Amino acid sequence: MLGGCDTFVDAPSDPKRRDPLAELELFLKSRLPGDHEIVYSWSGGLFETKDGLPYVFEHPQYPGRVFIACGFGGNGLVMGKAAAYVLGDLVQGKKTRAALLFGLERTGEVLSLSEAKNNGETIRQKIFVRVATIADVIDAKPYCAEARGHKIALFLIGGKYYAISNTCSHAGGSLCRGTLTGDSIQCPVHGAKFNVATGAVMGPPALRPQLTYPVRVRGRDVEVEVEVEMPKGPAVQDQQSHTRIQTAGSTWRSWLRRFF
Ligand code: FES
Repeated sequence: MLGGCDTFVDAPSDPKRRDPLAELELFLKSRLPGDHEIVYSWSGGLFETKDGLPYVFEHPQYPGRVFIACGFGGNGLVMGKAAAYVLGDLVQGKKTRAALLFGLERTGEVLSLSEAKNNGETIRQKIFVRVATIADVIDAKPYCAEARGHKIALFLIGGKYYAISNTCSHAGGSLCRGTLTGDSIQCPVHGAKFNVATGAVMGPPALRPQLTYPVRVRGRDVEVEVEVEMPKGPAVQDQQSHTRIQTAGSTWRSWLRRFF
């Protein structure tokens, strides 16, 4: 098997240059003189990212659940192993230097949240976030959860899940540490009561209701829908716009040496 003679598909055509397959055939004949039959030949495109490194990242819309490694170009064996290391860190919630190096934001075409905020280029979007497994939440026992910065008191009552804001509207008590009676949670600080299904105030001294959140179960995961702020710029679905067809000559080896 013989390969090579890669070309950029978007390079200006060169009339002096031979067809790559013809060039390969000549090369083969120069090394193996005699009669040979080429029984199969093929060519295909390699897609690489602009800087030659793959993208390895946590999907911004499914944090903790979906992790992606793509854009390996022709370097899948080496980069696949590097991606495995980075994915291992990401799954454990570690934001290492390697994770930053392989992240979506490095090319500058995907804005980081802080950059997007500075530019006023963010949108608010509702997404479901995993906050617990069904084994974590015990019937009639409040569960303290957190979803993308939202502190949540989660309840399971008679087989149905409810989620309300955990921070008591009276003076900030933690409702998931309170006492649940029926569908009413009592704040452990000054005793205000709230309905866990509607968030309505059921007893003083609180005057304002609690926020409520939709809850759903996916497989063994309990998910709560929260609003998050996200960069407006190109997202994962625009990945292809970050790629170009290229076949060789990237800087990834020197990059890798610095991190692995
Ligand atoms: S902080 Fe909850 S009742 Fe006062």
